[in-house]
Amino acid sequence: MTKLEALRQYEQAHKDSVSGEERPAFHLSPAVGWLNDPNGFSWYQGKYHLFYQFYPYAPRWNVGVNWGHWTSENLVEWKREPAAMAPDESYETGVFSGSAVTDADGSHLLMYTAHFEEEKIPGEVYRRETQCLARGDGKDYSKDPRNPVIAEKELPADCEISDFRDPKLWIEQDGTYSAILASRDRRTQLGKLLLFQSENAGEWHYVSTILANDGRFGRMWECPDFYMLDGRCVVSASAMAVKNDDPSYRNGYTVLAFIGDYDEQTHRFTAGEPQGLDLGFDFYAPQTMETPDGRRILVAWMQAPETGGNAPETIKWYGMMTFPRELSVRDGHLYQKPVREIEKLHLDTVRADQTLEGETELDGISGRVIDLSVDVTVPEKDAEPFEMDFASDGTHRISLKWDPESGRLLLDRRHDGRSSSVCSVRETVVRPGQTLSLRILLDRFSYEIFVNGGAQVLSGTMYEMPAEADRIAFQSDGARVCAEKHALREVMGAL
Ligand code: FRU
Repeated sequence: MTKLEALRQYEQAHKDSVSGEERPAFHLSPAVGWLNDPNGFSWYQGKYHLFYQFYPYAPRWNVGVNWGHWTSENLVEWKREPAAMAPDESYETGVFSGSAVTDADGSHLLMYTAHFEEEKIPGEVYRRETQCLARGDGKDYSKDPRNPVIAEKELPADCEISDFRDPKLWIEQDGTYSAILASRDRRTQLGKLLLFQSENAGEWHYVSTILANDGRFGRMWECPDFYMLDGRCVVSASAMAVKNDDPSYRNGYTVLAFIGDYDEQTHRFTAGEPQGLDLGFDFYAPQTMETPDGRRILVAWMQAPETGGNAPETIKWYGMMTFPRELSVRDGHLYQKPVREIEKLHLDTVRADQTLEGETELDGISGRVIDLSVDVTVPEKDAEPFEMDFASDGTHRISLKWDPESGRLLLDRRHDGRSSSVCSVRETVVRPGQTLSLRILLDRFSYEIFVNGGAQVLSGTMYEMPAEADRIAFQSDGARVCAEKHALREVMGAL
């Protein structure tokens, strides 16, 4: 039996070991075991395809990671497909992250990193990351005999082959294949993003350095993306180990988006300061694709890599994707909102409109699997901070606190029932003033908070929050709250 056959068999045999209630209701999670980055997010033969870093044999990351696979016709209802790739060639011990396009011949072309690791001498690990191709029909994929197609020979001499990964591939209008890749500079040891091109997908050459870490944003960068949106060019990267105390970024493993301009002649990219793409606790390695109707959609791994080893003891699966988000750029800022297809999941709708006097719960505004919008208007003078708890049972809760004067927004997860010690408070600065608008996607194990039309987003997981914690409470003197809540249909349980 090949490694891939064994993987498919294992996935099939264990998929029913997790019941619907033990899973998120509308977020993607692995059948069993571990999930990290989204891979190969694409539209192929009338369906969305989303692959992912998958290790079914334990709820922990493993260097022998595979590609799992789902498909969907509408981005909200997904079908589990047999796993797509396992590390079964001599040049790979793990099939790391990558992307997918429809090739000129109609096949589905995957480009991924073949991670190779061996310890010939005890204590000395030899590591090499090269770029490879696989081709398929939307179900079964075969590795290209020319693999690896980008290796030492193509890599500029000042870059390390041990940290060279995560190709984001696209095909230019004239048929040229382009890919942006993350690498590490030998001298500075910092991440940089390289552009490669090819006429035939088999032979590649280095073209330019799109961006280099100047030392302010962590060490190595991973999972780059590159796209045009609303007349601007967006380059994003997931930065490892960022140290800072600026509330416009989060420290740790953080995703940066640079909104700038790209010169197609010189292949140079210029941009100002990056934007932190998600200022909550759990968000990494996002990947985007363009839908047939021209929308740019993002999906990310909803986890901070630094807490990737913290799966609760009883859980059989670990790792989720964010809900798909539609992106737009306005005035040099990237906005995110849940894809409009979420309406397909809306069940009943409850609305409430009330001026708050102290702690208040609003009629019918509660629940744990919901799409909730809250518009807050505070009095013009001497406005007190506005506070809100959700997923609450009195003891457990996730709390938000907004100071209208400074715009400071605090997200507090100290009471989410967690059995490990992790960062519990995030602070960011949103628009100050009289109004605040929130849209919260709440699921059994996660929340995604879109602030002021998606100008900022804060996401987090809560694997140990009791399922019954479904109360929502507001706290303010004099703020007016207009809330709209849709209960959501469960679509992932029977996946
Ligand atoms: C990011 C990452 C990628 C790599 C993959 C391995 O989370 O480290 O750089 O390709 O995960 O699973």
